[in-house]
Amino acid sequence: MEPDRAVALFRDVAEARVAAERLMSDPYRDFVNNIDMDETLRGDLAAWEELWLRPRALVDVSDVDTSTTVVGQHLALPVITAPFIGSSLIDPEGEVATARAAVAAGTVTTLSMMGSRGPEQVGAVAAGRYWQQLYFVRDRDVVADVVARAVSAGASALCLTVDLPLLPTFPGRMGAAAQAIGEYWGAGEHSMSVAREYGHLPFGSTFPNPGVSWSDVEWLRGQTDLPLILKGIIRPEDAVLARDHGAAAVVVSNHAGQGLRWSMPVAHALPSIVDAVGGDLDVLADSGIRTGSDVLRALALGAKAVLVGRPVLWGLAVGGSAGVENVFRILKTELAEAMAITGAPRIADIDRSVLAPARP
Ligand SMILES: Cc1cc2nc3c(=O)[nH]c(=O)nc-3n(C[C@H](O)[C@H](O)[C@H](O)COP(=O)(O)O)c2cc1C
Repeated sequence: MEPDRAVALFRDVAEARVAAERLMSDPYRDFVNNIDMDETLRGDLAAWEELWLRPRALVDVSDVDTSTTVVGQHLALPVITAPFIGSSLIDPEGEVATARAAVAAGTVTTLSMMGSRGPEQVGAVAAGRYWQQLYFVRDRDVVADVVARAVSAGASALCLTVDLPLLPTFPGRMGAAAQAIGEYWGAGEHSMSVAREYGHLPFGSTFPNPGVSWSDVEWLRGQTDLPLILKGIIRPEDAVLARDHGAAAVVVSNHAGQGLRWSMPVAHALPSIVDAVGGDLDVLADSGIRTGSDVLRALALGAKAVLVGRPVLWGLAVGGSAGVENVFRILKTELAEAMAITGAPRIADIDRSVLAPARP
C-alpha cells in the first residue's frame, strides 16, 4: 500500500465514502452511486434505518462474541465481502487486496466472476476463505471451467447470482458511466479476468443469459460438492425453490439497485423468506448495510450474516487492503457495541425482540 493512503483511514463507513469519492473517477463514482436510478438503493437505506432498536437493561455483556457459522464455515463476524466488478479500477491489487483483508478479519470474500483477478490469484491468499461468484454466461463450458478452477484454488462455496437475466437500460449519467467503465475495463491488465482468459468479452456476447432457469441450477449442483448459494432472491417462493434445488443458502438481495428499479427493500423482503426457509438453509442479506447497527437489524430479522459491497469498495479505494480491514474492524466494533446495549452478547441471542414493533 502507498504510504499516503495508509494515513487516510476513516472512523466510519460514511467517512470512508467521502474520502473514497474524492479518489474515484467521475464515471466510477456515478456508477457506484446508481446515479439517475437510485430509487431501489434509497429504499434499502431508508428501510434499514426505519427499524428502530430497543436497548435491554442489566444483562451481563462483559464478554461479547460476534462469531458465527455460515454454510458450515466459522466466521469471526457475520459480515462477508459482496462480489463486485471493477476492483482494479480503484486499487492496483484488485480483488486480492480485498481477499487478504477478509482473511485478516476472520471472514470470507466473494470473488466476482467478472472481477479483474481470477480464482488462482485470490485462492493464493484466501484458500478456504473465498466464495466464487458465478454468472451463468451463455457459454456453459466457461461456467464449468471457472467452477473447476475455483475448486482447485480452494473456494469454500459457490455463489450464483440469479437476479440479472438481462442488464437493464441504464438511464442518464448511469448509462454514460457504465459505457465509460466498460470501455476502460475491456482491455489490458485491469480488464475482466474471464475476458482475458476465455478470449471474448462476456458483456453482450455471452452475458447476461436470459435463458437461465432452475434446470441450470441442477446442472451446477452436479459440478461439485461445494455448498451452493443463490444470490438475488426477493420472493419466498423463489427461496423455497432454491431449497428444493439443493441450495445451502440464499442471499436476499436486490443487487443494491443495479438491476430492477423500484425493487422492494431487502429489509421488507427478508422476514417472509426467513419464515419460509430459515429452518432449512442459511438466509443471508445484502443491499444498503452501512453500520454495525444495520448488521444487527438484519440479524434480528433472521439473517445469518450480511454481505457488504460499497463499504468494502470505499475502504479499498481509500486504503487498499488496510482500508478494507478497517471497514471490517469498524463494522465489528459497531456490531459488538449494539449487541451489548441490546443485551445480546452472542449472535444466537439476537432475535426480533431487538426491534421496536412497527407503529400502528
Ligand atoms: C460496482 C458494483 C459492482 C457489482 N458487481 C457485482 C458482480 O459482479 N456480481 C454480483 O453478484 N453482484 C455485484 N454487485 C452487487 C453486490 O454484490 C451487492 O449485491 C451489493 O453491492 C450490496 O449492496 P451494498 O453495495 O449496498 O452493500 C455489484 C455492486 C456494485 C456497487
